[in-house]
Amino acid sequence: MQTSRSWAEPYKIKMVEPLFITTREERETYIKEAGYNTFLLRSRQVYIDLLTDSGTSAMSDRQWAAMMMGDEAYAGSENFYHLEEAIHKYYGYKYLVPTHQGRGAEHILSKIMIKDGDFVPGNMYFTTTRLHQELAGGTFVDIIIKEAHDPESTHLFKGDCDLQRLEDLIKEKGADKIPYVSIATTVNMAGGQPISMANLKALRALTAKYGIPIVHDMTRVAENAYMIQQNEKGYQDKAVKQIVREICDLTDAATMSAKKDALVNIGGFLAVNDEEIFNQARNMVVIYEGLHTYGGLAGRDMEAMAIGISESVSDDHIRARVGQVLYLGKKLLNAGVPIVKPIGTHGVFIDAKKFLPHLTQEQFPAQSLAAEIYEDSGVRAMERGIVSAGRDKITGENNHPELELVRLTIPRRVYTQAHMDVVAESVQSVYNERDKVKGLKMIYEPEYLRFFQARFEKLG
Ligand code: F0G
Repeated sequence: MQTSRSWAEPYKIKMVEPLFITTREERETYIKEAGYNTFLLRSRQVYIDLLTDSGTSAMSDRQWAAMMMGDEAYAGSENFYHLEEAIHKYYGYKYLVPTHQGRGAEHILSKIMIKDGDFVPGNMYFTTTRLHQELAGGTFVDIIIKEAHDPESTHLFKGDCDLQRLEDLIKEKGADKIPYVSIATTVNMAGGQPISMANLKALRALTAKYGIPIVHDMTRVAENAYMIQQNEKGYQDKAVKQIVREICDLTDAATMSAKKDALVNIGGFLAVNDEEIFNQARNMVVIYEGLHTYGGLAGRDMEAMAIGISESVSDDHIRARVGQVLYLGKKLLNAGVPIVKPIGTHGVFIDAKKFLPHLTQEQFPAQSLAAEIYEDSGVRAMERGIVSAGRDKITGENNHPELELVRLTIPRRVYTQAHMDVVAESVQSVYNERDKVKGLKMIYEPEYLRFFQARFEKLG
């Protein structure tokens, strides 16, 4: 008897975009010119682009049709109201402030809520989120469970918070020094790992006791909801849509990069339930982003987002989306390549420390490996390790994260399973020659978010 059947994409392809094929020799030149930083490659030098799932989704025909319905009025665009309706319907938050992307919302919220000397606990950090917290005078405190830092741990909900750690922190610093707890669904830097509903509920109960709000980084909330449906007791029969709503209802405010889950190429928002915070945010958005009914977006972008949100919470969509990531992950696992377990929802994260045990972390193993994979096949990945972790705000020393990862991030609805096969073969081939991979030396380091623009040279 057949117990499980294959998934397939719940769509067919209507338009295609040619890819660029290069030789190894060309790629060696390109990556050298790019300072061994995949962010500095031109996209025409890339064959399969797994740099990020951000803004790289293929929109649906409904979304493209909606683009023609852009109401480009400076104030009160009809598309803003459609977006507001979608947010009320699928996420439930009361007030909406659109922003050009996720970090626009993080900027505004951090400025409003964080005071100098505050502490902001979170289930691991995201680069831009933490930087905005720090620029507003706060100190990020990692309260994710310890399993999240161990690529081998097969804990199903590595995005969970260590509630004891949080309560100790509250007692040590005082609840008035903690403006909010920051919760990401899913946790990008941990390898695309979900938080469980049980942990979120317990977190809600604990923070309520101290009057501390929860801010939800809901960038990949539908993927998180899918993992709850698949793996958490009591959720098998609930639709992803319902689970998404249940997650949002346990939180007080949200920042969203709609460039991921919500299937648009640009866009984001801040959503809050507190009227006073909304009024401040609505006032501040006009300084940094644009008027409160467009926040840096064109009307057509807001329309595409409203439709993208509705498509993103469909069970059929999300099963195929995560299914494709699992397909690639399983291939690499079967080939013996060390990756973060369990396989994440938006990408496969290679454990560069295990892949390249002959390199020290100061020789940038993940950065080196991403460059090496590019040289091998033109597949572009991203470093998520010591370069991304930046420097300690006080000592100025390099942070040394436990996780030194290369992220193969899968754009939504863009590549086929055959592309995934090519990627797996390339990683495998680099793995077979792994002892030849040399480390890197950083020769240029920008002050903020250095991973975007840092340059490197190959060590001798
Ligand atoms: N939060 C999370 C969890 C993210 O992954 C990102 C972006 C942001 C916030 C910021 O949103 O880019 O719209 O300003 N992540 C991208 C990535 C850049 O490649 O993982 P943004």
